[in-house]
Order: sequence, then structure tokens, then C-alpha cells
Amino acid sequence: MTPMTRKQLHIHEVAPRDGFQNEARFVDTDAKVALIDRLSDCGYAKIEVTSFTSPKAIPALRDAEAVMHRIKRRDDVVYTALVPNIRGAERALSCHVDEINLVMSVSESHNLSNLRMTREHSFAQLRDVIGVARQTPVSINISLSTAMGCPMEGDIPLEQALEWVQRFADLGVDGVTLCDTTGMAFPSQVAALSDAALKRFPGLELTLHFHNTRGMALANTLSALTAGIDRFDASLGGLGGCPYAPGATGNVCTEDLVHMLELDGYRTGVDLEGILSAAAVLPELVGHDVPSQLLKAGKRLDVRAMPSSGGGAARPSEFA
Ligand code: COA
Ligand code: ZN
Repeated sequence: MTPMTRKQLHIHEVAPRDGFQNEARFVDTDAKVALIDRLSDCGYAKIEVTSFTSPKAIPALRDAEAVMHRIKRRDDVVYTALVPNIRGAERALSCHVDEINLVMSVSESHNLSNLRMTREHSFAQLRDVIGVARQTPVSINISLSTAMGCPMEGDIPLEQALEWVQRFADLGVDGVTLCDTTGMAFPSQVAALSDAALKRFPGLELTLHFHNTRGMALANTLSALTAGIDRFDASLGGLGGCPYAPGATGNVCTEDLVHMLELDGYRTGVDLEGILSAAAVLPELVGHDVPSQLLKAGKRLDVRAMPSSGGGAARPSEFA
């Protein structure tokens, strides 16, 4: 069966930032650069390269300048980096990023634990950053953490998330990413938020950012797609997590996501074989197994040889 061809999507790779920020083992700068260079040739719309945060807060990304300067940049990929404050913006701009990805949380508790300031304090700083960045050719995105639930406050009302989108839209940002930082979102909630955000902010580039903490990331993606969202963050190998959110785990896994979307006829632009071979090096880089299902199971039609005759029954784990 050939699925009908559906629309073109934009896939953003966040493993070098959201993935590595959470790893106990420092991934060597050369290895980061080699991985990003490899991913650059895999058809992503955007790669989040690193974050310009305090090296005390996020030691895993203390080599942000070196990584940003050393990667080979392609014209058809947007290279972005996370920026929490003015100091971060100065560092990012000095490295000529294509986009700064500002960050703050929709919930007060998560903003306090993650960024050590109130939301209003973050907003005031980010407003100044936007004022400076708008004088440059750099694009501005804001990632709104805990937009669909906060591990310390519980549910986040839809209106509360939209209110923060509105405040940044009023400052003239190019894009907003709605982040389910700790995998609390569920499909009908995602549909309602996506639908409302698309209707209210037709001029903004809207991205959805799911974590798979409770196994709902792929379902949430389909729900957002149906509502009309066409930009998604995803993380190679399913790496990721917020060091300041209790119980956080990895992002939706890029290869699992691309595999599903391409089967359903969406065009992701991403070279699945290319990212699978890139993902295969991750366990060695980070020193542990990664959540990717595809790395373990292979693609749907990676057929295997029949068990040799007389070899007894197939192992249940393979054929059940
Ligand atoms: N880059 C480098 N250094 C920075 C910095 C930045 N963007 N922002 C602050 N610093 C340094 C300051 O120079 C200061 O250094 P010193 O102790 O040597 O003087 C130190 O960090 C503390 O600065 P302060 O302004 O008091 O910040 P803070 O300690 O309240 O930290 C943040 C605020 C936002 C910088 C910090 O919490 C942070 O970087 N958090 C990262 C959050 C994150 O990325 N979470 C995961 C992704 S959502
Ligand atoms: Zn995240």
C-alpha cells in the first residue's frame, strides 16, 4: 500500500542541546562537532547546536563557543542555540548563530528552579535581548517550557500558555515553541492548544516540543499534526531531559518519529538511514543505552531471515 503523499514537515534536531545538557558524562567537543556535522547532511530544517547558559548550571555545554565555531554550516540548515539571558545572547551573537532560541517557563515554579528568576524577571531580560537581536539579521524563537503541564504545579491552563505566546508575539519574535518539558501533555490537550495557537497567531512559526516521559510523545505529535502543526523538535536516540525538572526524560526520538511520519506519507526531508547510523554512535558517546526503539528493533520492513529449520520455535520476543 502506498500512502498518500501528505505535506512537508520541518524537523528540528535538539539532541546536541536538549540531549547532551542532561548527560553526566561530558561529551568531548570533537565528538559533538563530528555528530553535528553528520546531522547537517541528513536533511533537518534546524539543528539546536548548544546552549549559551551558565557553565556552572549546565557544565555539559560549557564548550558552546568552540562547538558553534567549529561546525561546518550548510546554507539550508538553521543553526540555533538556547539563550536564557543577556549574557547568553551576547555570546550567541558573537558566534553568528542563525537563530537565538530564548527560553522561559510558563509556570513560575519551573522558571524559578530552571532559571533562578521569576517569570517577570525572565521576561524583562528577554525583552531586552529581543530589542538587541532585532537590530541584527538573527531570527528569534522563544521556547516556552512547561506549556502543557508543570511537574511542580500540575495542569497549565491553555489560556496561561497562550498569554505568554501573546506577550512574545507582541515583541515581534519570529517563532514560538510550545514545550511539554516533562511529558505531561495528552493528545486531546495538544489538539486544543495547537488549534487555538494556530488560529490566534497565524503569523508565527509554531513548533511543538514533546518529551516521551509517559510514552505519549508520538501520539501527541499526530494530534498536533492533525490540528495543522508542521514543525517538531525531536532528539536523536531519544536523548534529553531537563536537569531542573523532577522525573524528566528524553525527547521524542527523531528516528522513531521520522520512521512513523514517512510511513504515513509525510515528507520530513530527513534521511532515516543517515540518522540511524548517526544514532548508533550515541550509546558509546554518552556511556549508556538510549531510548530509541528503532535502534533496537530496526525499521518495519527490515525483514529477518527465518530461524534455521529444526532450530525450534521462534523466540517470543521476536515474533510475538
Ligand atoms: N553564560 C555564561 N555565564 C553566565 C551566563 C551565561 N548565559 N549567565 C550567567 N552566567 C554566569 C555569571 O557570569 C556568574 O558567573 P560568576 O559566578 O563567575 O560571577 C554566574 O553565572 C551567576 O550569574 P547570575 O546572573 O547570578 O545567574 P544565576 O546563577 O542566577 O543563573 C542562569 C541564571 C539563567 C544563567 C542559569 O540558571 C542558567 O544558565 N541556567 C540554565 C538553564 C537551562 O539551560 N536549563 C535547561 C534548558 S531549559
Ligand atoms: Zn525539552
